[in-house]
Amino acid sequence: MRDKIQALLTEIEGLKASSVAELEALRVKYLSKKGLVSVLFNDFRDVPNESKREVGQLLNELKNKAQEKLNAIKDELGSNQSEAEKLDLTRSPEPIALGTRHPLSLVKNEIIDIFSRIGFTIAEGPEIEDDWHVFGALNFPPEHPARDMQDTFFIEQNPDIVLRTHTSSVQTRIMSAQKPPLRMLFPGRVYRNEAISYRAHCFFHQVEGLYIDKDVSFADLKQALMYFAKEMFGSSTQIRLRPSYFPFTEPSAEMDISCNLCGGKGCPFCKHTGWVEILGCGMVDPNVLENCGIDSNVYSGYAFGMGVERITNLKYQVKDLRLFSENDVRFLRQFKSAY
Ligand code: DAH
Repeated sequence: MRDKIQALLTEIEGLKASSVAELEALRVKYLSKKGLVSVLFNDFRDVPNESKREVGQLLNELKNKAQEKLNAIKDELGSNQSEAEKLDLTRSPEPIALGTRHPLSLVKNEIIDIFSRIGFTIAEGPEIEDDWHVFGALNFPPEHPARDMQDTFFIEQNPDIVLRTHTSSVQTRIMSAQKPPLRMLFPGRVYRNEAISYRAHCFFHQVEGLYIDKDVSFADLKQALMYFAKEMFGSSTQIRLRPSYFPFTEPSAEMDISCNLCGGKGCPFCKHTGWVEILGCGMVDPNVLENCGIDSNVYSGYAFGMGVERITNLKYQVKDLRLFSENDVRFLRQFKSAY
């Protein structure tokens, strides 16, 4: 046995291979299951007990040496490879460019992230809606100008079907289908019959918020919005609520934040007022709750709605709305973020 091991060792030390195929043949000959080294391991059981320790050691050395030798041959073959052989012909010829998220998606995701930290969940609704969910249930009187063709896209054959003009329509769907307490965000695309310019488009994006429960007050609304403004625009951001009117909230307000460009001192961006408007909000009108089958004597709630383009403009100072839908990669590539 010792002689056999020694002979094999000498043989292995002298091994040579000039190609990968030859190297593989050597591996099979010596180290595969039925290879010469492995066969010696099989013979090991016939070795008398008193020699087992010593022979076992020799066998292990042999196996290690064989493996080392084959590895050395492999390294040598590798370094002798010509440049052409080292090329990976399966790789794409173009560098693989990683995409970036669209700025509107980044901001939408950040809005969602901020509100989800205070318990808001997400729901979506259809973009093609009926009059009731977009206007009727939201307390719009029949003669309201939003119901005019000038402002809203209607389907010609059926004036009851519209492209939703705001994501407030999802409020009415959710309130009609689910029982309070509700604390939800409704992100989505909306459409308005507007001439396209740097400041208006026929479609844009909104995120609507809704909170319905017992004893919800205007103070709760203010607190949630203040938290949002500071998370989104920085902790020194101030908010200001101005009385306003929406058919579906009473009382209603519009919220301004201290101009995030000049810090409230006044600049051309905020028209030297120090404030910029970012959203509409209010306490859900009891008529709206009743229209959706919620008892307004038991429940109250607040709602707010903001334009994603508006928030994105403030955050990234994009001056022309049209850039968001032109898909110019030179513009899009500039946006990288955690969201
Ligand atoms: N739907 C309004 C719009 O599109 C925004 C809005 C205002 C939503 C007040 C609300 C709200 O939920 O309470 O201009």
